[in-house]
Amino acid sequence: MSKYRNAILTLLTEVQPQYISGQMIANQLDISRMTVKKVIDQLKTEGVSIDSVHNKGHRLNCYPAYWYLGVLEACLKKQQLVDTIQAFPSVTSTQDVAKKALVGHTETMLIVSDEQTGGKGRFKRPWQSTKGQGIWMTLVLRPDIPFSMLTTFNLFISLAICHTIQRYVKDKVQIKWPNDIYIGERKVCGFLTEMVANADSIEAVICGIGINVNQQEHDFDEDLIHTATSLRLHRETPVERYALLQDLVTEIEQRYHQFLSTPFHTIKQEYIDVSNIWNRRLRFTEGRKQFYGKVIEMDDDGFLHVVDETGNIHRLMSADIHF
Ligand code: BTN
Repeated sequence: MSKYRNAILTLLTEVQPQYISGQMIANQLDISRMTVKKVIDQLKTEGVSIDSVHNKGHRLNCYPAYWYLGVLEACLKKQQLVDTIQAFPSVTSTQDVAKKALVGHTETMLIVSDEQTGGKGRFKRPWQSTKGQGIWMTLVLRPDIPFSMLTTFNLFISLAICHTIQRYVKDKVQIKWPNDIYIGERKVCGFLTEMVANADSIEAVICGIGINVNQQEHDFDEDLIHTATSLRLHRETPVERYALLQDLVTEIEQRYHQFLSTPFHTIKQEYIDVSNIWNRRLRFTEGRKQFYGKVIEMDDDGFLHVVDETGNIHRLMSADIHF
Protein backbone atom coordinates (compact mmCIF):
# COMPACT_ATOMS: atom_id res chain seq x y z
CA MET A 1 0.00 0.00 0.00
CA SER A 2 1.42 3.38 -0.98
CA LYS A 3 2.52 5.67 1.80
CA TYR A 4 1.02 8.56 -0.17
CA ARG A 5 -2.50 7.29 -0.13
CA ASN A 6 -3.59 9.20 2.98
CA ALA A 7 -2.01 12.42 1.76
CA ILE A 8 -3.67 12.10 -1.65
CA LEU A 9 -7.05 11.42 -0.07
CA THR A 10 -6.59 14.41 2.23
CA LEU A 11 -5.94 16.69 -0.76
CA LEU A 12 -8.92 15.29 -2.67
CA THR A 13 -11.16 15.79 0.37
CA GLU A 14 -9.93 19.32 1.04
CA VAL A 15 -10.73 20.54 -2.48
CA GLN A 16 -13.99 18.61 -2.81
CA PRO A 17 -16.24 19.25 -4.79
CA GLN A 18 -13.57 20.81 -7.01
CA TYR A 19 -11.08 18.91 -9.14
CA ILE A 20 -7.37 18.90 -8.39
CA SER A 21 -4.90 18.08 -11.13
CA GLY A 22 -2.52 15.14 -10.93
CA GLN A 23 0.34 17.60 -11.40
CA MET A 24 -0.78 19.71 -8.46
CA ILE A 25 -1.01 16.65 -6.20
CA ALA A 26 2.39 15.49 -7.43
CA ASN A 27 3.94 18.92 -6.75
CA GLN A 28 2.44 19.21 -3.28
CA LEU A 29 3.64 15.78 -2.22
CA ASP A 30 6.89 15.89 -4.17
CA ILE A 31 6.11 12.68 -6.03
CA SER A 32 5.65 11.75 -9.70
CA ARG A 33 2.33 11.99 -11.57
CA MET A 34 2.67 8.27 -12.21
CA THR A 35 2.61 7.59 -8.45
CA VAL A 36 -0.48 9.79 -8.09
CA LYS A 37 -2.21 7.89 -10.88
CA LYS A 38 -1.32 4.50 -9.38
CA VAL A 39 -2.68 5.45 -5.96
CA ILE A 40 -5.88 6.89 -7.43
CA ASP A 41 -6.42 3.79 -9.58
CA GLN A 42 -5.97 1.61 -6.51
CA LEU A 43 -8.47 3.69 -4.51
CA LYS A 44 -10.97 3.37 -7.36
CA THR A 45 -10.61 -0.41 -7.36
CA GLU A 46 -11.39 -0.35 -3.63
CA GLY A 47 -14.66 1.42 -4.39
CA VAL A 48 -13.72 5.01 -3.58
CA SER A 49 -15.70 7.14 -6.03
CA ILE A 50 -13.17 9.40 -7.77
CA ASP A 51 -13.83 11.14 -11.06
CA SER A 52 -10.78 11.62 -13.27
CA VAL A 53 -11.19 14.01 -16.21
CA HIS A 54 -8.56 14.91 -18.78
CA ASN A 55 -7.35 18.51 -18.34
CA LYS A 56 -9.24 18.89 -15.06
CA GLY A 57 -7.80 16.30 -12.75
CA HIS A 58 -9.38 14.22 -10.01
CA ARG A 59 -12.38 14.76 -7.79
CA LEU A 60 -13.74 12.83 -4.83
CA ASN A 61 -17.40 12.42 -5.80
CA CYS A 62 -18.67 11.49 -2.36
CA TYR A 63 -17.33 10.29 0.96
CA PRO A 64 -16.26 6.65 0.90
CA ALA A 65 -18.46 3.99 2.46
CA TYR A 66 -15.65 3.05 4.84
CA TRP A 67 -13.19 4.94 6.99
CA TYR A 68 -10.06 6.23 5.28
CA LEU A 69 -7.55 8.03 7.46
CA GLY A 70 -6.75 10.63 4.80
CA VAL A 71 -10.41 11.59 4.47
CA LEU A 72 -10.90 11.62 8.25
CA GLU A 73 -7.91 13.87 8.74
CA ALA A 74 -9.28 16.37 6.23
CA CYS A 75 -12.78 16.27 7.74
CA LEU A 76 -11.48 16.65 11.28
CA LYS A 77 -8.66 19.08 10.61
CA LYS A 78 -10.22 21.89 12.66
CA GLN A 79 -10.72 19.82 15.78
CA GLN A 80 -8.39 20.15 18.72
CA LEU A 81 -9.85 17.41 20.85
CA VAL A 82 -7.30 14.76 19.89
CA ASP A 83 -3.69 14.72 18.71
CA THR A 84 -3.91 11.60 16.57
CA ILE A 85 -6.52 9.62 14.65
CA GLN A 86 -6.40 5.92 13.83
CA ALA A 87 -8.82 4.18 11.48
CA PHE A 88 -9.29 0.44 11.01
CA PRO A 89 -11.46 -1.73 8.76
CA SER A 90 -12.00 -4.24 11.55
CA VAL A 91 -10.88 -4.69 15.15
CA THR A 92 -12.14 -6.74 18.08
CA SER A 93 -12.95 -3.57 20.00
CA THR A 94 -11.76 0.03 19.66
CA GLN A 95 -11.55 0.05 23.48
CA ASP A 96 -8.92 -2.70 23.34
CA VAL A 97 -7.00 -0.91 20.59
CA ALA A 98 -7.06 2.30 22.66
CA LYS A 99 -5.86 0.60 25.81
CA LYS A 100 -2.87 -0.88 23.98
CA ALA A 101 -2.11 2.33 22.08
CA LEU A 102 -2.03 4.58 25.12
CA VAL A 103 0.67 2.64 26.95
CA GLY A 104 3.90 4.63 26.98
CA HIS A 105 2.28 7.62 25.24
CA THR A 106 0.81 10.86 26.47
CA GLU A 107 -1.15 12.04 23.47
CA THR A 108 -4.90 12.11 23.04
CA MET A 109 -6.42 9.85 20.38
CA LEU A 110 -9.46 9.02 18.33
CA ILE A 111 -9.79 5.43 17.18
CA VAL A 112 -12.52 4.42 14.74
CA SER A 113 -13.26 1.12 13.10
CA ASP A 114 -15.74 0.14 10.41
CA GLU A 115 -16.43 -3.08 12.27
CA GLN A 116 -15.89 -4.60 15.69
CA THR A 117 -15.86 -8.35 16.03
CA GLY A 118 -15.93 -8.22 19.84
CA GLY A 119 -17.56 -4.87 20.62
CA LYS A 120 -18.31 -4.49 24.32
CA GLY A 121 -21.00 -2.62 26.14
CA ARG A 122 -21.39 -1.82 29.82
CA PHE A 123 -21.53 -4.77 32.21
CA LYS A 124 -19.53 -6.80 29.63
CA ARG A 125 -22.54 -7.07 27.34
CA PRO A 126 -21.78 -7.61 23.66
CA TRP A 127 -22.19 -4.61 21.37
CA GLN A 128 -23.27 -5.42 17.82
CA SER A 129 -21.01 -3.43 15.51
CA THR A 130 -21.84 -4.32 11.92
CA LYS A 131 -19.43 -3.23 9.21
CA GLY A 132 -19.93 0.29 7.92
CA GLN A 133 -23.31 0.78 9.57
CA GLY A 134 -22.43 2.69 12.68
CA ILE A 135 -19.91 4.82 14.44
CA TRP A 136 -17.75 2.59 16.60
CA MET A 137 -15.15 4.82 18.19
CA THR A 138 -12.99 5.37 21.23
CA LEU A 139 -11.58 8.64 22.49
CA VAL A 140 -8.50 8.69 24.68
CA LEU A 141 -8.50 11.96 26.60
CA ARG A 142 -6.05 13.20 29.22
CA PRO A 143 -7.90 15.54 31.57
CA ASP A 144 -5.82 16.97 34.38
CA ILE A 145 -8.56 16.65 36.97
CA PRO A 146 -9.11 15.06 40.38
CA PHE A 147 -10.79 11.63 40.43
CA SER A 148 -13.92 13.11 41.98
CA MET A 149 -14.56 15.28 38.93
CA LEU A 150 -14.80 12.34 36.57
CA THR A 151 -18.27 11.42 37.81
CA THR A 152 -19.87 14.15 35.69
CA PHE A 153 -17.85 13.46 32.53
CA ASN A 154 -20.55 11.14 31.17
CA LEU A 155 -23.23 13.74 31.72
CA PHE A 156 -21.48 16.33 29.58
CA ILE A 157 -20.60 13.80 26.88
CA SER A 158 -24.15 12.49 26.70
CA LEU A 159 -25.42 16.00 25.97
CA ALA A 160 -22.93 16.27 23.11
CA ILE A 161 -24.05 12.96 21.63
CA CYS A 162 -27.74 13.65 22.17
CA HIS A 163 -27.59 17.06 20.46
CA THR A 164 -25.53 15.71 17.56
CA ILE A 165 -28.00 12.90 16.88
CA GLN A 166 -30.93 15.31 17.19
CA ARG A 167 -29.59 17.25 14.18
CA TYR A 168 -30.12 14.15 12.01
CA VAL A 169 -33.63 13.10 13.05
CA LYS A 170 -36.94 14.85 13.72
CA ASP A 171 -38.11 12.48 16.47
CA LYS A 172 -37.07 13.47 19.97
CA VAL A 173 -33.67 12.21 21.07
CA GLN A 174 -33.28 11.67 24.81
CA ILE A 175 -30.70 10.63 27.36
CA LYS A 176 -31.31 7.62 29.52
CA TRP A 177 -29.09 8.37 32.48
CA PRO A 178 -26.24 7.68 32.70
CA ASN A 179 -24.92 6.24 29.41
CA ASP A 180 -27.59 5.66 26.80
CA ILE A 181 -29.18 7.74 24.09
CA TYR A 182 -32.70 6.89 22.97
CA ILE A 183 -35.07 7.77 20.17
CA GLY A 184 -38.54 7.03 21.45
CA GLU A 185 -38.39 3.81 23.46
CA ARG A 186 -35.37 2.40 21.62
CA LYS A 187 -31.65 2.75 22.16
CA VAL A 188 -29.70 4.41 19.36
CA CYS A 189 -26.38 4.86 21.13
CA GLY A 190 -24.49 3.61 24.14
CA PHE A 191 -21.20 4.72 25.53
CA LEU A 192 -18.89 3.70 28.31
CA THR A 193 -16.08 5.45 30.10
CA GLU A 194 -13.06 3.67 31.49
CA MET A 195 -10.02 5.11 33.16
CA VAL A 196 -6.31 4.43 33.50
CA ALA A 197 -4.95 5.97 36.68
CA ASN A 198 -2.01 5.82 39.04
CA ALA A 199 -2.22 6.52 42.77
CA ASP A 200 -2.17 10.30 42.29
CA SER A 201 -3.81 11.12 39.02
CA ILE A 202 -5.78 10.09 35.99
CA GLU A 203 -3.55 9.03 33.11
CA ALA A 204 -6.26 8.60 30.53
CA VAL A 205 -10.01 8.56 30.14
CA ILE A 206 -11.08 6.01 27.56
CA CYS A 207 -14.52 6.81 26.22
CA GLY A 208 -16.07 4.30 23.83
CA ILE A 209 -19.08 5.41 21.83
CA GLY A 210 -21.32 3.23 19.67
CA ILE A 211 -23.95 4.87 17.48
CA ASN A 212 -26.36 2.86 15.32
CA VAL A 213 -26.38 4.92 12.15
CA ASN A 214 -27.55 3.23 8.96
CA GLN A 215 -28.98 -0.11 10.08
CA GLN A 216 -32.36 -1.18 8.80
CA GLU A 217 -34.49 -3.25 11.15
CA HIS A 218 -33.36 -6.58 9.63
CA ASP A 219 -29.71 -5.66 10.30
CA PHE A 220 -30.14 -5.97 14.06
CA ASP A 221 -29.61 -9.28 15.83
CA GLU A 222 -32.83 -10.90 16.97
CA ASP A 223 -32.36 -9.95 20.61
CA LEU A 224 -32.07 -6.27 19.64
CA ILE A 225 -34.93 -6.00 17.16
CA HIS A 226 -37.40 -4.65 19.71
CA THR A 227 -35.02 -2.53 21.75
CA ALA A 228 -32.53 -0.96 19.32
CA THR A 229 -32.95 1.66 16.65
CA SER A 230 -30.74 3.58 14.26
CA LEU A 231 -30.71 7.10 12.86
CA ARG A 232 -31.68 5.63 9.47
CA LEU A 233 -34.91 4.23 10.88
CA HIS A 234 -35.98 7.79 11.70
CA ARG A 235 -35.02 9.36 8.36
CA GLU A 236 -35.77 9.11 4.68
CA THR A 237 -32.12 8.83 3.64
CA PRO A 238 -28.92 7.20 4.90
CA VAL A 239 -26.59 9.30 7.05
CA GLU A 240 -23.16 10.32 5.81
CA ARG A 241 -20.93 8.88 8.55
CA TYR A 242 -18.02 11.28 7.92
CA ALA A 243 -20.32 14.28 8.41
CA LEU A 244 -21.85 12.74 11.53
CA LEU A 245 -18.44 12.03 13.02
CA GLN A 246 -17.30 15.56 12.24
CA ASP A 247 -20.38 17.00 13.99
CA LEU A 248 -19.95 14.66 16.91
CA VAL A 249 -16.30 15.49 17.47
CA THR A 250 -17.09 19.23 17.30
CA GLU A 251 -19.87 18.86 19.90
CA ILE A 252 -17.77 16.66 22.16
CA GLU A 253 -14.89 19.12 21.99
CA GLN A 254 -17.18 21.96 23.15
CA ARG A 255 -18.75 19.89 25.92
CA TYR A 256 -15.37 18.62 27.02
CA HIS A 257 -14.13 22.20 27.51
CA GLN A 258 -17.33 22.95 29.37
CA PHE A 259 -16.78 19.88 31.55
CA LEU A 260 -13.26 21.04 32.39
CA SER A 261 -14.30 24.59 33.21
CA THR A 262 -17.87 24.49 34.56
CA PRO A 263 -19.58 22.56 37.35
CA PHE A 264 -22.39 20.18 36.40
CA HIS A 265 -25.10 22.26 38.03
CA THR A 266 -24.75 24.89 35.28
CA ILE A 267 -26.02 22.38 32.71
CA LYS A 268 -28.24 20.39 35.06
CA GLN A 269 -31.55 21.81 33.80
CA GLU A 270 -30.52 21.29 30.19
CA TYR A 271 -29.68 17.69 31.04
CA ILE A 272 -32.95 17.12 32.91
CA ASP A 273 -34.92 18.52 29.97
CA VAL A 274 -33.57 15.88 27.57
CA SER A 275 -33.74 12.94 29.99
CA ASN A 276 -36.32 10.18 29.61
CA ILE A 277 -36.29 8.79 33.14
CA TRP A 278 -38.86 11.07 34.74
CA ASN A 279 -42.36 10.15 35.89
CA ARG A 280 -42.09 6.46 35.20
CA ARG A 281 -41.57 3.28 37.16
CA LEU A 282 -38.06 1.98 36.54
CA ARG A 283 -36.16 -1.15 37.43
CA PHE A 284 -32.71 -0.45 38.85
CA THR A 285 -29.85 -2.93 39.01
CA GLU A 286 -26.94 -2.00 41.22
CA GLY A 287 -24.49 -4.87 41.43
CA ARG A 288 -26.58 -7.82 42.60
CA LYS A 289 -29.31 -5.64 44.03
CA GLN A 290 -32.49 -4.95 42.07
CA PHE A 291 -35.37 -2.69 42.95
CA TYR A 292 -38.21 -0.77 41.35
CA GLY A 293 -38.54 2.92 41.91
CA LYS A 294 -39.11 6.42 40.60
CA VAL A 295 -36.59 9.19 40.11
CA ILE A 296 -37.41 12.15 42.36
CA GLU A 297 -34.40 14.36 41.81
CA MET A 298 -31.06 14.82 40.14
CA ASP A 299 -28.65 16.63 42.42
CA ASP A 300 -25.92 19.14 41.56
CA ASP A 301 -23.32 16.35 41.37
CA GLY A 302 -25.35 14.46 38.77
CA PHE A 303 -26.44 11.73 41.22
CA LEU A 304 -29.98 10.39 40.92
CA HIS A 305 -32.27 10.29 43.94
CA VAL A 306 -34.68 7.41 43.63
CA VAL A 307 -37.52 6.38 45.89
CA ASP A 308 -38.12 2.64 45.82
CA GLU A 309 -41.44 0.89 46.38
CA THR A 310 -40.86 0.57 50.11
CA GLY A 311 -40.21 4.29 50.43
CA ASN A 312 -36.43 4.08 50.79
CA ILE A 313 -34.36 6.76 49.10
CA HIS A 314 -31.29 5.72 47.04
CA ARG A 315 -28.63 8.16 45.86
CA LEU A 316 -27.10 6.66 42.73
CA MET A 317 -23.91 7.63 40.92
CA SER A 318 -24.46 5.00 38.26
CA ALA A 319 -26.85 2.10 37.68
CA ASP A 320 -28.39 -0.09 35.06
CA ILE A 321 -31.92 1.10 34.42
CA HIS A 322 -34.72 -0.81 32.68
CA PHE A 323 -37.95 0.71 31.53
C1 BTN B 1 -23.40 0.31 26.30
O1 BTN B 1 -24.45 0.77 25.89
O2 BTN B 1 -23.43 -0.65 27.07
C2 BTN B 1 -22.10 0.89 25.86
C3 BTN B 1 -21.78 0.55 24.44
C4 BTN B 1 -20.43 1.05 23.98
C5 BTN B 1 -20.08 0.56 22.60
C6 BTN B 1 -18.85 1.23 22.07
S1 BTN B 1 -18.60 0.90 20.36
C7 BTN B 1 -17.01 1.57 20.43
C8 BTN B 1 -16.41 1.13 21.73
N1 BTN B 1 -15.81 -0.17 21.58
C9 BTN B 1 -16.43 -1.11 22.29
O3 BTN B 1 -16.12 -2.31 22.31
N2 BTN B 1 -17.42 -0.57 22.97
C10 BTN B 1 -17.54 0.86 22.73
